[in-house]
Amino acid sequence: MEIKALIAQTVEEAVKKAFPGVETGLSYEALLEVPPDSKMGDFAFPCFRLSKALRMAPPMIALKLGEAIDKPELCRAENVNGYLNFFLNRENFARDTLQKVMAAPEKWGSGEEGRGKTACVEYSSINIAKRFHLGHLSTTVIGNSLKRIYDFQGWNTVSINHLGDWGTQFGKMIAAYKRWGNKEEVEAGGVDEMTRLYVRFNQEAQDNAELEDEGRAWFKKIEDGDPEALEIFHWFKDVTLKDAMRVYDILGVHFDSYAGESFYADKTDRIVRELEEKNLLRESDGAKIVDLSEYDMPPCLILKSDGATLYATRDLAAAIYRKETYHFDQSLYIVAYQQDLHFRQFFKVLELMGYDWARDQCKHVAFGMVSYEGQGLSTRKGVMIYLDELLQKAQEKALEIIREKSPNLPNKEEVARQVGVGAVVYATLQNNRIKDIDFRWDRALNFDGETGPYVQYTFARCGAVLRKAGELDAAPDYGALTDDEAQAVLRLLARFPEDVRAACRTNEPYMVTRAVTDIAKAYNKYYYEHRILEGEAAAQAARVQLTDAVRAVIKTGLYLIGMEAPERM
Ligand code: ARG
Repeated sequence: MEIKALIAQTVEEAVKKAFPGVETGLSYEALLEVPPDSKMGDFAFPCFRLSKALRMAPPMIALKLGEAIDKPELCRAENVNGYLNFFLNRENFARDTLQKVMAAPEKWGSGEEGRGKTACVEYSSINIAKRFHLGHLSTTVIGNSLKRIYDFQGWNTVSINHLGDWGTQFGKMIAAYKRWGNKEEVEAGGVDEMTRLYVRFNQEAQDNAELEDEGRAWFKKIEDGDPEALEIFHWFKDVTLKDAMRVYDILGVHFDSYAGESFYADKTDRIVRELEEKNLLRESDGAKIVDLSEYDMPPCLILKSDGATLYATRDLAAAIYRKETYHFDQSLYIVAYQQDLHFRQFFKVLELMGYDWARDQCKHVAFGMVSYEGQGLSTRKGVMIYLDELLQKAQEKALEIIREKSPNLPNKEEVARQVGVGAVVYATLQNNRIKDIDFRWDRALNFDGETGPYVQYTFARCGAVLRKAGELDAAPDYGALTDDEAQAVLRLLARFPEDVRAACRTNEPYMVTRAVTDIAKAYNKYYYEHRILEGEAAAQAARVQLTDAVRAVIKTGLYLIGMEAPERM
């Protein structure tokens, strides 16, 4: 339990003991204050908040509560002017915290909340025949982090890349390929060549109506399983995925399933039939819809007038498929906030179909927009940032900085990769999801601000301290860790498991980013104000153990947000 909660519990027990039978209805934890000067204690409880319920003057309450507290191993309490000031037993707290962390350093922060439960985590979900651009960075990075956090909390996770690989544009692309394309050019040019073909198709189709028919015919062939159409279609997919894989590899992102929209295209009949049977389908201009006006939403489109399915139809099929296949307890969709309405609509349709699980198990984990150096992203207006190029640039920029800062580092390229990619990941997970992000190089790669490189640097610094310390055979004297700076670090280490748990419950990776950043800052403050490898051997051993624990927890935190931890920087 976090130290503040332990003190709050102590207050609560004292109230029960000193004033039996009184219910105050107060949250003691919320009332605990941190005195401006640690000479006045680590925490203070203002007793006047109890005087109404207890019908007693605050100084008297403080006196009685003080007498009721007998926990020397945790703290001592002094009453001053109606306040109960708590002085932690700092040595015990240091011993207790470090022994707990060091018992299994790489597991500190893990949990059992998800034991026996399954979470589907859908993220990235890129579109076939389109370049992987900055617009898909957040979903990829947030999803990867959430998957790791859920795993760490004991969940069985299934990571899904719901590929955008269905729609008439694929028919058009094949038609264009058959007319003007060739195998070598697509192999060599990849997604760019497919885009070129598609753009040409749309241009020429303006004066040549036949083309549209050709496109439609090819899409029909895909739908009907024509071997040639399928072969080209699958090949387009492979080429796109090969490009995407490079990005996934650099980011350390993996998927258990790539079942995308096309996978569900033949599973929508059942949805339509079910909607019909449950009397939920309405005709509207020849199309079939589910009316949602009762829920203040526009109708959910199920079938076009030509009988073609829609995005929502395939999502309905996918949700039910995932439930029946994975038996999830949670199904997360890491998708931009712009699709909020879509998710509310199809979740509601699932509910109306009688799938009650949709209400509390399906979650749209939304996030804000990304801009780049102050410019919004757009396909049309030209600012198009491709993820492979961005990550490449990040590594180059990091290499420049490292060359300058650490000319003697042997593995500069490797570290530049870890730092450059880490800087991008960190910048993406720095704030709560819904906040828009403006990605800026000078901010992301600043080694001194609240950045990825800063946290990584602290990790490397801990490693350097440990290497310098070598083997110490003295048993740690935890009395050496009672200063404010060491205690600040210890408190953050102690609460790390709660931070991870909160990140998991709220699907907010930034809570882990925040936690590691705070630990890094607190440790650096400690590092500057104290000599770790001086004085008594036992005191050194304690400071080194603190360093060791910080190093382990930063490593875990970085892993959970999807960053690597360079040994040296
Ligand atoms: N491919 C879509 C896009 O890039 C995102 C898919 C989101 N997932 C879903 N199940 N609808 O916008």
